[in-house]
Amino acid sequence: MKLTGRAVLITGASGGIGRCLARELARRGARLALAGRNETELAGLARGLSAEGGSALALPLDLSEPASHTALVDGAEAALGAIDVLVNNAGLSRFGPFSEEDEAAIRRLMEVNLTAPMLLTRAALPGMLRRRSGQIVNIGSGFGSIAFPNFAVYSTTKFALRGFSEALRRELGGSGVAVTYVAPRTTDTAMNTKAALEFVEQTGAAVDTPESVAQVIADAIENGRPEVYIGWPERLFVRVNAVAPRLVDRALAGKTRKRRQIARNPA
Ligand SMILES: NC(=O)c1ccc[n+]([C@@H]2O[C@H](COP(=O)([O-])OP(=O)(O)OC[C@H]3O[C@@H](n4cnc5c(N)ncnc54)[C@H](OP(=O)(O)O)[C@@H]3O)[C@@H](O)[C@H]2O)c1
Repeated sequence: MKLTGRAVLITGASGGIGRCLARELARRGARLALAGRNETELAGLARGLSAEGGSALALPLDLSEPASHTALVDGAEAALGAIDVLVNNAGLSRFGPFSEEDEAAIRRLMEVNLTAPMLLTRAALPGMLRRRSGQIVNIGSGFGSIAFPNFAVYSTTKFALRGFSEALRRELGGSGVAVTYVAPRTTDTAMNTKAALEFVEQTGAAVDTPESVAQVIADAIENGRPEVYIGWPERLFVRVNAVAPRLVDRALAGKTRKRRQIARNPA
């Protein structure tokens, strides 16, 4: 789908990847509704994009609130008209031993990373199906294919988001509505605590810039890609994990002692 003139709703637009994605989509001519909780950040971004000749409005809200999903889709449609693309990008991460995880955090991650994308999709879909045109874009993670120790809750939400994307893509085949799942690898944003970054780096993994991730997402939208996994050798590991998960168990087990130390002292 060419992005020129298209109406795009992006959640998590106040965050690292979301902000860069908003800039990239505006550069490609899309009209944007920007969602997140941080009103000041969103308003500043919308002003900046509009000043550069783009079209963007801020729709601040908390996606863990029960009625927020339909309110957001209704608000975006009232301002932009029919939504062509919904980008479910908002997300939260947690790093640490699962035995010490608290209930509220588990519920919050499930709510923001999984329930919110499903409810936003449900709210946006009827219009897209009527028009026989639209695209749902879910931002997953490499951890949605390779379950990572000390990221148990986060991995669970991203595995489920990948499953949701696949089921929905199959269900919507031939309807004119596309489903795209993009799985970034570790990206340099505020989402990662110092301890999480230290842990990921000691596994030898690379860290991407949010600008480069935003370009990949924008390309995936324009090219209607079903699934994109960012990074090599991550793409290979995803395949190895699918066919020989015990190999990945062994590779990750080698890092166990150091990982426990970092997770217990998340400075
Ligand atoms: N960074 C990585 O290493 C990495 C790797 C793979 C995948 N990803 C995925 O990429 C996406 C974007 O992550 P990021 O790195 O850009 O993280 P980020 O900088 O922390 O941004 C997260 C965004 O989610 C929004 N958000 C969180 N809770 C919310 C809530 N309750 N209601 C509404 N909005 C909420 C935040 O809005 P406010 O700040 O305004 O609350 C913020 O805009 C996420 O889905 C993440 O899982 C990230």
